[in-house]
Amino acid sequence: MAQQKATNITWHEATVTAEDREKLLNQKGCVIWFTGLSGSGKSTLANAVEQVLHQQQHHTYVLDGDNVRHGLNKNLGFSPEDREENIRRIGEVAKLFADAGTVVMTAFISPYRADRDQARALIAENRFVEVFVDCPLDVCEERDTKGLYKKARAGEIKEFTGISAPYEPPLNPEVAVNTAALSIEECALAVVEALVKAGLVPAGN
Ligand code: ADX
Repeated sequence: MAQQKATNITWHEATVTAEDREKLLNQKGCVIWFTGLSGSGKSTLANAVEQVLHQQQHHTYVLDGDNVRHGLNKNLGFSPEDREENIRRIGEVAKLFADAGTVVMTAFISPYRADRDQARALIAENRFVEVFVDCPLDVCEERDTKGLYKKARAGEIKEFTGISAPYEPPLNPEVAVNTAALSIEECALAVVEALVKAGLVPAGN
């Protein structure tokens, strides 16, 4: 749990509210949280979903693990503590995006259930959609798009998720898609359908 260090700080209420912004944008700010192993297809899928939503005139944004680790989270590694802090910050950033009225997608391994649940707890109940990008480890390893599994097996990367660090699959995700069995387009459609069902976006045209 991150400690509150600053004292003498006061919350300032905004005069333009989240509801005002949503009305202007004609959409509901929400968080679509993709979780899964490295190479499972989180970023590809998040981008495919974004493409569909963008074409339907929604304001969207994708927060991607590798990208965010180049900037905001460049001081974090892959120890359990650093991953927790990584996900804590992303949860807070996602909350800001959703408050701004954006449909924000996060594509992080986010291997720990407790950390994902903490992110969920920051967001209004019906505005958080957890998507389990379910792809067997052997398929991810076979894909090895970044060549990292090979390095992890060779012991060149320590604490690699699925090899030498844990991944805790969601127990009750809003959506689960198997990227080994379905195409990215089919998976994206399943996610968008879930968003429609949740009343977060209107049925497509
Ligand atoms: S998380 O566990 O903290 O959620 P995050 O999604 O930000 O991870 O970053 C994962 C990406 O970092 C992987 O897709 C991979 O490209 C890279 N990476 C580098 N080292 C590791 C490692 N030890 N474990 C997992 N991914 C790693």
